[in-house]
Amino acid sequence: MKKGKLIVGNWKMNPQTTRDAAKLFKDVAREARTITKASVAVCVPDVYLNPLAALKEKKVSLGAQDLFWEKEGAFTGEASAAMVANSGAKMVIVGHSERRARGESDEDIARKVKAALAAKLVPILCVGERERAGEGEHISFVTAQLTAALKGLPRADASRVVVAYEPIWAIGKQAKRSATKEEGLEMAIVIRRTLSHLFTRPVAESMPILYGGSVDEKNAKDFLFDAGMDGLLVGRASLSAKTFGGIIRTTNTGI
Ligand code: PGA
Repeated sequence: MKKGKLIVGNWKMNPQTTRDAAKLFKDVAREARTITKASVAVCVPDVYLNPLAALKEKKVSLGAQDLFWEKEGAFTGEASAAMVANSGAKMVIVGHSERRARGESDEDIARKVKAALAAKLVPILCVGERERAGEGEHISFVTAQLTAALKGLPRADASRVVVAYEPIWAIGKQAKRSATKEEGLEMAIVIRRTLSHLFTRPVAESMPILYGGSVDEKNAKDFLFDAGMDGLLVGRASLSAKTFGGIIRTTNTGI
């Protein structure tokens, strides 16, 4: 994959109405008009996929925030990979820490990655440690998460996977800070090395690595240009088209 940067907004359980979702989506598309060196996407609640896809905005792709690995049947409340793909999603977040916190296991996540790939969706696999405790523990933790989710995938499939490094301590309102560019760079190297071991170096190099966790207009360029990241996964700051616009425009100006 990997051509230019990839900036993905994660709207989480926002906004509250289809009308507000359509407005935000159109405003983001307007901001994305002048972007030449990056792809832009937003991962939205499933209920907004169809109405937003109908707007046919070319500059912003749509993604889902989760899926279920079974194809059909008695799974109340779930949506299959084919369903989200048929509703207009091109990608899907898998294993976000907010879903892992609700009981999703590594095995579940591995199944979801496979289901996404089978439906021709790009899985954005989220990994990241809860806290920075002992020496190097975050490194073995993230390596284990990646291995559990991806081991055994055929190389051709692996090359369609995006990995997002999202340290849990840096995510959301309760976060005190984002990661630093040095912390980001260390993990970009760790992730790339793990992917090389799993799939060979050329495959690892074709897999985009995103950073997520308190990304804003100020720190975006640190991760994009100094931390070895191929893009960003943006939560809160993606809910304002103006702020998200500022973040995506960083890709035009950076070296
Ligand atoms: P945040 O969330 O940017 O609001 O910290 C990131 C995420 O959870 O994907």
